[in-house]
Amino acid sequence: MRIVEVKTGTPYQVRIQRGLIDRVGEELLALLGKTCKAAILTDETVNALYGDRVAASLQNSGFAVIRYAIDPGEEHKALADWQGMLEFMAQQQLTRSDCVVALGGGIPGDMAGFAAACYLRGVKFIQVPTTLLAMVDSSVGGKTGVNLASGKNQLGAFYQPRMVLCDPDVLATLPPETLADGVSESIKYGMLGENEVLDWFEHGDWTAHTEELIRRCITAKAAVVEADERDTGCRQLLNLGHTLGHAIEKNSKYQVTHGHAVAIGMALAAKLAHQLGLCDEQTVTRLVATLERNHLPTNTIYTAAQLTDAALSDKKRTGGTLTLVLPTGIGHCQLHPVEVSQLENLIALAVG
Ligand SMILES: NC(=O)c1ccc[n+]([C@@H]2O[C@H](COP(=O)([O-])OP(=O)(O)OC[C@H]3O[C@@H](n4cnc5c(N)ncnc54)[C@H](O)[C@@H]3O)[C@@H](O)[C@H]2O)c1
Ligand SMILES: [Zn+2]
Repeated sequence: MRIVEVKTGTPYQVRIQRGLIDRVGEELLALLGKTCKAAILTDETVNALYGDRVAASLQNSGFAVIRYAIDPGEEHKALADWQGMLEFMAQQQLTRSDCVVALGGGIPGDMAGFAAACYLRGVKFIQVPTTLLAMVDSSVGGKTGVNLASGKNQLGAFYQPRMVLCDPDVLATLPPETLADGVSESIKYGMLGENEVLDWFEHGDWTAHTEELIRRCITAKAAVVEADERDTGCRQLLNLGHTLGHAIEKNSKYQVTHGHAVAIGMALAAKLAHQLGLCDEQTVTRLVATLERNHLPTNTIYTAAQLTDAALSDKKRTGGTLTLVLPTGIGHCQLHPVEVSQLENLIALAVG
């Protein structure tokens, strides 16, 4: 078992081991020291694949299990779908001494975490991520939420899970494009300083190192989250590729998935950094080649004007400025505040 300690206000462990999906009950009992009602919140696809196994494991450890599944897809990371989760929890009379089990990728994970944050002003929750993206990134750090019509994750809360259980075996059922979404966020950690992780994607075979990949990405994320839990300083580095990525997701009406959009966003951030003289051309070439080697896109069909409109409704804006994350080399990035009035010109340098 690989374990990462996340030392936030309420500390918790990320536990990584093959076969954990069938031991969720034992792990939860060991964490809580007693049984309760466990509400599995998931999506329909994950429910069909793993819902029964997780429910059986919880029941075998003595938990009373209730289960609710939303439709899969970013278009369902919406208030109406989230409300469905909450009404279900209320109808099933979940109490403050009960627990939420967020089972699935980043979408049910973010939504179930936000439901746990709000329901009865907060109930305990654990994350059982089932996509690579959720294992290397979204299940840790406590950002929970849903999208509003005006943009991604615009309604949410910082609310940490009590435990995260990663079973790399469940990645076997992921479609290749969904696996690639997680590769994109992993490459992000490579660009932020995890050199060996980047090397696995640039030259090697990352699938030979899956558990170690998850451990390293989460360790890197935990360090940043511990230093800046509320995302007002260095945690913003984790947004590499995300300002333009979110703008691409929104312009595509969420047909471009999060990881794919972040891949394009990272490539554009590197091109912009090069145009501004912040990094050499080799940084751009290496990043683009690494993304392409891993079946990820690096170009967008959207114009600088379209991307600017979408980016300006992003919550990362503070007053008249917006902070971009720009690579200064492979493994090094910096925060780069820009005037909102300059944004379209800068984006034009990247897409142009
Ligand atoms: N909270 C954070 O810090 C954070 C960080 C990064 C991304 N995110 C969010 O995460 C979301 C993207 O997450 P995602 O890519 O995991 O999306 P997702 O949850 O929609 O999962 C992608 C698809 O894979 C399916 N799936 C999940 N696990 C499976 C499995 N084991 N086998 C087969 N199919 C499976 C799902 O049903 C879905 O159709 C975005 O909304 C993004 O904003 C949040
Ligand atoms: Zn992301």
